[in-house]
Amino acid sequence: MKIGVAKEIKTDEYRVALTPAGARELTDRGHDVVVEHGAGDGSAFPDSAYEAVGAQIASVDDVWNDSELLLKVKEPIAPEYDRLREGLVLFTYLHLAADEDLTRALIDSGISAVAYETVETSNRALPLLAPMSEIAGRLAAQAGAYFLEKPLGGRGLLLGGVAGVAPGRVLIIGGGIVGYNAAVIAIGLGANVTILERSIDRMRHLEQILSGRVSLVMSNTLQIEESIVEADVIIGAVLIPGARAPKLITRGMLKSMKDGAVFCDVAIDQGGCAETSKPTTHTDPVYVVEDVIHYCVANMPGAVPITSTKALTNATLPYVEAIAGQGLSEAVARDPALAKGVNVLEGKITYEAVAEAHDLEYAPLEGVLV
Ligand SMILES: NC(=O)c1ccc[n+]([C@@H]2O[C@H](COP(=O)([O-])OP(=O)(O)OC[C@H]3O[C@@H](n4cnc5c(N)ncnc54)[C@H](O)[C@@H]3O)[C@@H](O)[C@H]2O)c1
Repeated sequence: MKIGVAKEIKTDEYRVALTPAGARELTDRGHDVVVEHGAGDGSAFPDSAYEAVGAQIASVDDVWNDSELLLKVKEPIAPEYDRLREGLVLFTYLHLAADEDLTRALIDSGISAVAYETVETSNRALPLLAPMSEIAGRLAAQAGAYFLEKPLGGRGLLLGGVAGVAPGRVLIIGGGIVGYNAAVIAIGLGANVTILERSIDRMRHLEQILSGRVSLVMSNTLQIEESIVEADVIIGAVLIPGARAPKLITRGMLKSMKDGAVFCDVAIDQGGCAETSKPTTHTDPVYVVEDVIHYCVANMPGAVPITSTKALTNATLPYVEAIAGQGLSEAVARDPALAKGVNVLEGKITYEAVAEAHDLEYAPLEGVLV
């Protein structure tokens, strides 16, 4: 199959959808890999690294026009809509339920589009979203430690303490993928870590893997009120699938927190879990409310494109290999997880939630495939 890798043109996006290592796996299997000139630059993969593993470097027009399968990271944006076409399979993050213009552009073009974020395994895991949550969780602990420094407006506390001086306290609300990874780094820094979680099954699992290294406590309003008073860093890491994040921290509750404490709201991409949360960017990541530093960067993994690109492509490559090796129809017939990723097939919406979100016609995948 002819596999194209497009350069991302969205502002501040430095990731690329395939590493040279991934390209090597595909060329070894006999596929033609065509990478847009400069596509890997932001992730420190020069064109020469792709050429060295047998990929070709081409112009943006050639990559989009000649590919059968096109790999991207972010959803196509308006200047790319004219490039969408029948016969092309697009594999990327799409987030269509939030983007009616793109949904209509995909339908009108007759393209087939598979969304990373809706690939879902039978145990309801989202394998192509998980790597970004891992990275965001780890970054959240780092950001918390960093913004505690006095010159940055923080309390002036070393999170790990030193011999004879107690470490800082990190409170993580939500013990999923973000929360677990934040805990791992905070523990590594030497902090005193508490995780508030509301799923007992998840707490049992965390108890097994983090036993003795964190306090695991049931999450409820009273517990949150009591815990935030003591915290030096709070990490918001809750998720209720398909819903906006619950507002667990009110403006009034912030008043009881320590001055110069840091609140990293990783759940900001779902609206944030505090009343006072609003999205920020890497260029201007923090603001202060009630003397609490708020770090609410909506695309945290964007800060570390080398790591993010590798982590993302580690997760996507098996699916890319399946689509390239078997063709989309056969690959989705064999793998129900990949089938869930198909949002648009030959111009028809095959993902019910997307059709519902925009009041458009839903065509179940099985019906379109036959
Ligand atoms: N800002 C970013 O760059 C970025 C990057 C990746 C993920 N995220 C976001 O981080 C959030 C967490 O993602 P995840 O992958 O860890 O999700 P996850 O589903 O793995 O974990 C969420 C956890 O929150 C728990 N939870 C739900 N309500 C709770 C409550 N009231 N109190 C305590 N715990 C509660 C759930 O039981 C679950 O264990 C999501 O909103 C996700 O979109 C943001």
